[in-house]
Amino acid sequence: MKTEQGKTGKFIAPIKSQEAIKLLIADHRLVSKLFDEYEKASTKAMRKKLVAQICMELSIHAQVEEEIFYPAVKKALKDHELVPEATVEHASLKTLIAQIEGKEPDGEMYDAKVKVLCEYVKHHVKEEQNEMFPKAKATNLDMVELGEKITARKQELIAEKA
Ligand SMILES: [Fe+2]
Ligand SMILES: [Fe+2]
Repeated sequence: MKTEQGKTGKFIAPIKSQEAIKLLIADHRLVSKLFDEYEKASTKAMRKKLVAQICMELSIHAQVEEEIFYPAVKKALKDHELVPEATVEHASLKTLIAQIEGKEPDGEMYDAKVKVLCEYVKHHVKEEQNEMFPKAKATNLDMVELGEKITARKQELIAEKA
């Protein structure tokens, strides 16, 4: 029998591990940039592509927060308010995402939904970054370990969606 010893695995994690909060803030910035691009997009095809990317980024981001980050924060803070509220906000975001994902950008109602989604996201991000994240940072949560879990889960979800 041939041995596989000596052969190193080809798989190398492409994303360097980062602290959980830095990763989540980077996602927030990316989505905000995509919304800005949507505002400036001059063709229907560009708008459709941007919305597809926004919906995918937001869905994956919300999922890793709900599966990994929020439960850890809830436990560390013994929180009964911030995480439940954020989870309800995610549900509202998902309702709007479902209304535009895969749909044709066909006029004012579509644009209105994207605009309201952008406003909801801004509000939600502000609460996370101004309230939840500073409180989470002040705990003894291991943000590097959480960041690794988030990165691994994101890669899985991206692969599933691809
Ligand atoms: Fe977030
Ligand atoms: Fe969130």
